[in-house]
Amino acid sequence: MLSIQHSLFLRCSLVVVWHFVLLITETSSLNPEEKHPQQSTAPVDARLAEGGRLCSGRLEMKHQGGWRVMNTKERDAAVKVRYAEVACRQMGCGSVVSITHSTNNTGQRPAWEVNFTCRGTESTLKECSNTITQSRVQAKHTSSWSLEVICSESLRLVGSPNVCAGSVEVKSDQGWVSVCEDGFDTKAQKVFCRELGCGSPTNFRGTFSTREGPLLSKQFQCEGNESHLQECASSFRTDCRPASGISCSDNDVRLVGGESHCRGTLEGKYDGEWRPLNDRRFLKPEHFAEVCVQVGCTDVISTSTGRLSTSRPVWELSIRCGRTDSFCKSWRGSSSSSVITVNCSEAVRLKGNHRCSGVLEVKPGLSWVSVCSSFFTPEAALVTCRELDCGFPHNHYGWSNNHYDFSRELIWDRDSKCEGSEKRLLDCPSTTLNITKEEISACGITYVTCMERPPPPRIRVYVPQELVSYDSTEVFKGHHFAIICSAYSPYNILSIRLKSGVNTEHQHIQSAVDGKAIFMFPPAEEAHRGTYQCDYNYNFSSEIFSVPDTIFVDVKENNNVRLVNGGGRCVGRLEVKHEEKWQPLSHQHSWSLTEAAVLCRQLNCGSAVSTSKVVTLTEPLPAWRFYSDCDGSERALMDCGTVRKWLSFSTVEVVCSEILLRPKIAVFSTDVHSNDQEQEVQLFKGHSFTISCSVGPQYPGGHFSLIFTGPNQTHSLTQPAVNHTAYFTYSGLDKARQGNYSCIYHNFVFNHNFTSESQSLSLTLNDFEGVLLDDGVLREDDSEPCAGKLLLSLGDEWRHLSAESTVWDLKHASLVCRQLGCGSAVSTKEINLLKKEYMWRFFSDCDGSESALLECGSVKLWISSSAVELVCTGHQSAAGKN
Ligand SMILES: *[C@@H]1O[C@H](CO)[C@@H](O)[C@H](O)[C@H]1NC(C)=O
Ligand SMILES: *[C@@H]1O[C@H](CO)[C@@H](O)[C@H](O)[C@H]1NC(C)=O
Ligand SMILES: *[C@@H]1O[C@H](CO)[C@@H](O)[C@H](O)[C@H]1NC(C)=O
Ligand SMILES: *[C@@H]1O[C@H](CO)[C@@H](O)[C@H](O)[C@H]1NC(C)=O
Ligand SMILES: *[C@@H]1O[C@H](CO)[C@@H](O)[C@H](O)[C@H]1NC(C)=O
Ligand SMILES: *[C@@H]1O[C@H](CO)[C@@H](O)[C@H](O)[C@H]1NC(C)=O
Ligand SMILES: *[C@@H]1O[C@H](CO)[C@@H](O)[C@H](O)[C@H]1NC(C)=O
Ligand SMILES: *[C@@H]1O[C@H](CO)[C@@H](O)[C@H](O)[C@H]1NC(C)=O
Ligand SMILES: *[C@@H]1O[C@H](CO)[C@@H](O)[C@H](O)[C@H]1NC(C)=O
Ligand SMILES: *[C@@H]1O[C@H](CO)[C@@H](O)[C@H](O)[C@H]1NC(C)=O
Repeated sequence: MLSIQHSLFLRCSLVVVWHFVLLITETSSLNPEEKHPQQSTAPVDARLAEGGRLCSGRLEMKHQGGWRVMNTKERDAAVKVRYAEVACRQMGCGSVVSITHSTNNTGQRPAWEVNFTCRGTESTLKECSNTITQSRVQAKHTSSWSLEVICSESLRLVGSPNVCAGSVEVKSDQGWVSVCEDGFDTKAQKVFCRELGCGSPTNFRGTFSTREGPLLSKQFQCEGNESHLQECASSFRTDCRPASGISCSDNDVRLVGGESHCRGTLEGKYDGEWRPLNDRRFLKPEHFAEVCVQVGCTDVISTSTGRLSTSRPVWELSIRCGRTDSFCKSWRGSSSSSVITVNCSEAVRLKGNHRCSGVLEVKPGLSWVSVCSSFFTPEAALVTCRELDCGFPHNHYGWSNNHYDFSRELIWDRDSKCEGSEKRLLDCPSTTLNITKEEISACGITYVTCMERPPPPRIRVYVPQELVSYDSTEVFKGHHFAIICSAYSPYNILSIRLKSGVNTEHQHIQSAVDGKAIFMFPPAEEAHRGTYQCDYNYNFSSEIFSVPDTIFVDVKENNNVRLVNGGGRCVGRLEVKHEEKWQPLSHQHSWSLTEAAVLCRQLNCGSAVSTSKVVTLTEPLPAWRFYSDCDGSERALMDCGTVRKWLSFSTVEVVCSEILLRPKIAVFSTDVHSNDQEQEVQLFKGHSFTISCSVGPQYPGGHFSLIFTGPNQTHSLTQPAVNHTAYFTYSGLDKARQGNYSCIYHNFVFNHNFTSESQSLSLTLNDFEGVLLDDGVLREDDSEPCAGKLLLSLGDEWRHLSAESTVWDLKHASLVCRQLGCGSAVSTKEINLLKKEYMWRFFSDCDGSESALLECGSVKLWISSSAVELVCTGHQSAAGKN
C-alpha cells in the first residue's frame, strides 16, 4: 500500500514539474515585474563563477541588481565567443581561450536570457546591448545550461586586428606590462601562442607596439613545454627592450585524396602534423573561398561534409576562430569522424579528352584564356604539369590554326619566365607582351601532354665493331659490349639507372653526362643473356624515375667456323661461313698455328696441335682467303681477320687438342648398375664390383687408364680398349677402395698422342652388412653377438633364413662369420620356431671364399617354421679384422 501511494505521489509531482517548465518557456516569466521587460538598461557587469580562478568559470551577468547565469537562444558558437571575449576584457582577464556550453540538469539555476549579440570589440556587456535598439533581457527561474569560460587571464595580444597576432602583454600587479625581447625566444613564444589557443608561432618579425619610453616589463625564461607562461621563470625589468610583435598560427591547409591539389579532403598542418580539419562550430561556406585561394586554386565549386565509420584525430577550429570572420587557422587537437571535402576550380586547365593533356588555358582573372605558344617554354610546361598534379611533360607544342579567332581578350598577353621550380603557372614572373593584334592572331595555341613519369630514355647495345641497331641485340660470347642509355630532355637529368637479372636484382647507377650513360661489360658469357632496363630521374625530382626502356640481349656462340671430315668436331678441314655461305678456307701465307689456336679456342676444342695444307689436285674450289691480324689470344677467328672470295687449290686442315670424345664411366655389382649420369654410387661392403670405361666409336684402338683417388692413396690401372671399352674388376669393396674413379682414354691419331678424361665417379661404402645373429640377449654396449639365429635383410625387412635351404652348410656359415667379423664358424644347426612365418630360402653359387653372403647367393620368400642358427669362433681382434 505504502509503495502505491508513494508512486502516485511521484507521478503527481512529475506532472507539476512538467507544467512548471512549460509555463516558464511559454510565458517567459512568472515574476510580475519581469513580465513586460523593458529595453535593457542593466548589464553593468560580468563575472566568472566557481571556476577556481578569477578568470575562469561560469559566465554570469548582473541585471536589475541581481547576478544570474547568462543565457542565450543563439546557437552560433561565434556569437557566444564574443560574449566571453567582452566578459574577459571587462574583467581584466585578457582574452578568451576557450568556451564550453555546459548542461547540468541537477544544477539548475536562475538565468538572464539575452537576445543581443556582441561584436567582440566592446568593453562591457552593457555596451553590446546598447548597440542594438531592440535588445531584451528575460529572466528565467531555472536554466540547465551555462557558458563555461576560460580567459587567458594574464596575457593578451594588442594592436592588431588579427586575433592571433599583435603586441604581447602580460598582467602584473602594476597592470598590463610588455614583455622583454630578451628571453622571449621561440620557446617562450611557443608557450605564449599555445596558451592563447593560437597554435604555434610564425617566423613573423614585426611590430605592433605603440608603447614608448622605458617601461616596466617582464622577462621570461621558458623550456617550451610549459602550458602557461606563468610556469616559466620570470622577473621584472625596467631597462629592457619590449618584444616586437608576435604572430601565431602560421598553419597550412591542403586538399588531399582528390585528383588534384584543388579537390579533396580539407587538411590542416599544425605543429608539423597534417590532420583533417573539422568544421564543428566555426566553418562557414564563405570561408572555403579563402581555402581555395590558399591552396593555389580559384573558385569554390562545391563543399560537402562526409562521415567516416570511425573517428580519427583531427584539428578542430579553436575558439579564436569565433572572433574572426575570415577563415581562421587557429586549431587544436581533437577527434572526429566527420570530414570536409572541398572542390575548387583550378587556375590552369588542359582542355582535351583527359585532364592531363590538351589545350592549355589559364584563368588569371575572371575568365579562361588560352596561352600563346610562341612564349611557352619547357620550364612553363614543367610548372603546368606540376600544378595539375599530372606529373611531367611528355611534350608540348604550338598549334597555329587560322580558323582560331584570337582576340586580345582571349589570349594571355604575358610572357612568363618560369624557372621550372614554381608551384603554379601564375606564380611565374611575367611581363606584359608588347605585341600587335596581328602578332596575337599569329599566336598558336599551346598543346601540353603530361604523364605520371618522365618519358622513357633510349637503350642500345654497343659492341666495339658496330653500333647494333635497335632490334638486333646479339652479342657474341667472349666479346666486350656496352649498354648505352640516353635521354633527350630539356630538363636536367641527374642519374641514369640500369637494371638487369631475372628480378632486376643487379643495378648500376651513373651520373648522366649530356643526358647519357655508358655501362661497360666484361667479355660476354651465358649469364649476360637477358633483359636490361634503363630509366633516369631529373635533379628536381630524384625520387621519381622515368618510364623505363628495355632491351633483350642475346649471347650467342660465334659459330661461323667448323671442321669437317676429320671424325670429330675438333679435327678436319676448316670451313668458314661468310655471307651465309659455308666454304673452305684457302691455305695462304697468313694461315699458321697462331690462327689455328684462335680457331680451336673458338670451337671450344682446347689448343691447336697442328695445321696443314691439303692440296686439291683437280680444279680450283670456291673458297675464302683469310687476311689475318691475329696474335693468337683472340676469342674468335673473325675478331682478328677478314675473308674475301678466292679460287683455291688448297684447303686448311686443323687438329685441336681435344679431338677425342669424352669417355664414360659406370660401375656394376650384384645389386647396382650405375648409368653414366651418376656421380655418386653406394656399394655394400664386401661386394665385388666392376668399373667400365667406354668411348663412342671414333678412332680404332687406344687404351683406357682408370685413375683412383682415395683419401690415403692413388693408383691407376691400364687396359687396351676392346670395342671402345675396358672393364676393371675389384673383388669386394672395403674402406681403402672408397674414393673417386675416373677413366682416361688415350689414342694415337694424326701422329699425336691424345687423351680425354671422363667425369669422376665417387664410390662409397654402405656399412650395412645385411646379416646378423640374434641370441635373444639385449646388450647394453650395443655390440653384435657372434652366435644365434641368422637374420637376413634385403631393404628394410629382417627375416630368418629357413633351415629348408638345403645348400646351407658350414661353408656358408663361415662366410657369414667372416662377414660379421666373428672369425669362422664352429657349428650351424636347425632350430624350430613353433609357428610358421615368412623366411628367406637361400640359393647359392658360393665357393666359400667370398666376403659377403649375398654376393654369391640369392633368396626367395618362403613359409617355414625352422630357422638356421649358427655359432662363430667369436670377435676378431681389431688387428686381425683386415
Ligand atoms: C551539476 O550541478 C551540481 C549542483 O550544483 C553539482 O554538484 C555538480 O557537480 C554539477 N555537475 C557537473 C557535471 O558539473
Ligand atoms: C530582441 O527581442 C525584442 C523583443 O522581443 C525584439 O523586438 C528584438 O527584435 C529582438 N532582437 C534581436 C536582435 O533578436
Ligand atoms: C619540461 O622539460 C624538462 C626537461 O626538458 C623537464 O625537466 C620539465 O619537467 C618539463 N616541464 C613540464 C611542465 O613538462
Ligand atoms: C569538382 O567539380 C568539377 C567541375 O564541376 C567536377 O567535374 C568534378 O567531378 C568535381 N569533383 C568532385 C570530386 O566533386
Ligand atoms: C610597344 O611597341 C610599340 C611598337 O613596337 C612601341 O611604339 C611602344 O612604345 C611599345 N610600348 C611599350 C609599353 O613598350
Ligand atoms: C639541377 O641542375 C641544374 C644544372 O646543373 C642546377 O642549376 C639546378 O640547381 C639543379 N637543381 C637541383 C634541384 O638540384
Ligand atoms: C671425390 O670427388 C668429390 C667431388 O669432386 C670431392 O669432393 C672428394 O673430395 C673427392 N674424394 C677424394 C677422396 O678425392
Ligand atoms: C661392340 O659393341 C657393339 C655395340 O656396343 C656391339 O654391337 C658389338 O657386338 C660389339 N663387338 C664386340 C666384338 O664385342
Ligand atoms: C688413412 O690414413 C690414416 C693415417 O695413416 C688412417 O688413420 C686411416 O685409417 C686411413 N684411412 C683409410 C681409409 O685407410
Ligand atoms: C705416344 O705414346 C706412346 C705410349 O705412351 C709412346 O710410346 C709414344 O712415343 C708416344 N708418341 C708420341 C708421338 O709422343
